[in-house]
Amino acid sequence: MWKLGNYQIESKVVLGPMAGITFKSYREFMSQFGFGVCVTEMVSDMGLIYGNKETEEYVSFKKGNYLTGVQLFGHEPENVKKAAEIALKLNPNIDFFDFNMGCPVPKVTNAGAGSALMKNPKLCGDIIRAIKEVTDLPVSAKIRLGWDNNSINYLEVIKELEEAGVDMITVHSRTRKELYSGEPHHDLLKDLRNKMSVPLVISGNIYTLDDAINAINITGADAVMVARGGIGNPFLLKQIEQYYKDGTRLESPSLKEQLEWCYELGYKIAEDKGESSGMRIYRAIAPKFVIGIPNAKKYKNRLCTELADLKSLKMILKDIANDNEIEFSL
Ligand SMILES: Cc1cc2nc3c(=O)[nH]c(=O)nc-3n(C[C@H](O)[C@H](O)[C@H](O)COP(=O)(O)O)c2cc1C
Repeated sequence: MWKLGNYQIESKVVLGPMAGITFKSYREFMSQFGFGVCVTEMVSDMGLIYGNKETEEYVSFKKGNYLTGVQLFGHEPENVKKAAEIALKLNPNIDFFDFNMGCPVPKVTNAGAGSALMKNPKLCGDIIRAIKEVTDLPVSAKIRLGWDNNSINYLEVIKELEEAGVDMITVHSRTRKELYSGEPHHDLLKDLRNKMSVPLVISGNIYTLDDAINAINITGADAVMVARGGIGNPFLLKQIEQYYKDGTRLESPSLKEQLEWCYELGYKIAEDKGESSGMRIYRAIAPKFVIGIPNAKKYKNRLCTELADLKSLKMILKDIANDNEIEFSL
């Protein structure tokens, strides 16, 4: 059990933010497998200030039986504060705010936002203080180890954030320079939680139950963040949840279950985004459900290129089922 502000959280899983993927229907679908906390895709402070309709859509969601945090990004405390106020007016269901201090994309860092903020720890603290001025909801931050190997400063940033009253910190254990590749450096963060006064969530290559156990054992983190590892493998959440509930190691799901979940998520995304644009987005997600099956390459290819509507999704999944002699009725 750990706490995010006044919320009590049982789960060891946080569903991580991923731009273009962790939209409302994805989060709702994943929730049946279990997580305590999830975070929206990153939301631009200026997008909210200018009333951009697409940006506003990111902050629209219903209450779940889990906490949903809106992740803001920007670099000027005053604008971030205004954006938080606007978000709260748009959606009273927001459970907490998260702030992005880890995005490595040049368009974001060149503007001084995302991981560029880590070059200025004091500013990181000021941004948290600014959000806290307009809400009593918890405010968390997501950081990296530092900008590059020569400027590893996560401890300094954590200290500034804690002084500003941050309620939880997620550390993605890579530098900005490492982007999303290579082994994350959980080993550098040995016993980090003991050096902190607020809950720690650890992020970086959580693809299996053992990855989660390992990251928690090394760092003492209160939870792991599942990001890419959950795409096409939602059962990973359940495996982590169950293990930390009673020590049970659940077997991997069957191909039949994977195909059913693949259709279910596609259906939810089509409802959320419209069938045609939903299936265009789903081309980046659906192929992950069939990794490791016989003829995976052929089917991944079809899901990437032929997916146009729910009918085509059903047809491809039925072909996979037939090929593998699975009974599959939708
Ligand atoms: C496509 C993609 C989009 C992402 N978008 C965000 C984002 O909007 N905000 C954020 O804080 N992190 C974002 N991340 C980082 C993830 O939340 C996570 O910290 C990172 O992928 C490391 O975890 P993993 O190796 O288990 O995927 C994104 C990652 C990916 C791959």
